[in-house]
Amino acid sequence: MKYIVYVSQAKAPLSKDALKELLEKSRARNADDAITGLLLYRYSKDFDKGYFIQAIEGPDGVLDALWERISQDNRHHTIVTLAEGTELERMFPNWSMGFKNVEAIDLADVPGFAKIETESFWQNLKANQMPESVDLLRGFYDGD
Ligand SMILES: Cc1cc2nc3c(=O)[nH]c(=O)nc-3n(C[C@H](O)[C@H](O)[C@H](O)COP(=O)(O)O)c2cc1C
Repeated sequence: MKYIVYVSQAKAPLSKDALKELLEKSRARNADDAITGLLLYRYSKDFDKGYFIQAIEGPDGVLDALWERISQDNRHHTIVTLAEGTELERMFPNWSMGFKNVEAIDLADVPGFAKIETESFWQNLKANQMPESVDLLRGFYDGD
């Protein structure tokens, strides 16, 4: 079995209805294809942009086919793979696609969640060492 974890930026922020449709179709298809995983969506007010993080896992052939479709989906771009590989056991065995529309308040409660507006956060990330993926991940936080 294979897995892929990636982040991406939505072409345009997704409405609740658009997210619901994406999720319902994905869940039905994934159930047929033995794909499981987790999808997080975050709208950043500061950037007026939507961001995704998704983990997908499943049998090699169907996972490759899904990745091909997701990679070409024009609802998002700047897809950055964070991790990929093979696994013996599923990480999300019970979720045809778990979903959360992440609000800033949810993140504030996560232990160890770094506050991006603090000096210390940026001192730790010297500008010339900041990878593009960190810049993209910034979009999940908007300082509320
Ligand atoms: C962020 C994001 C996550 C997606 N996740 C899934 C998924 O888990 N399963 C799935 O079948 N399609 C997913 N899709 C939709 C696929 O890209 C594609 O539109 C869908 O599978 C139908 O493909 P088809 O019209 O070529 O059959 C996702 C799309 C986006 C933008």
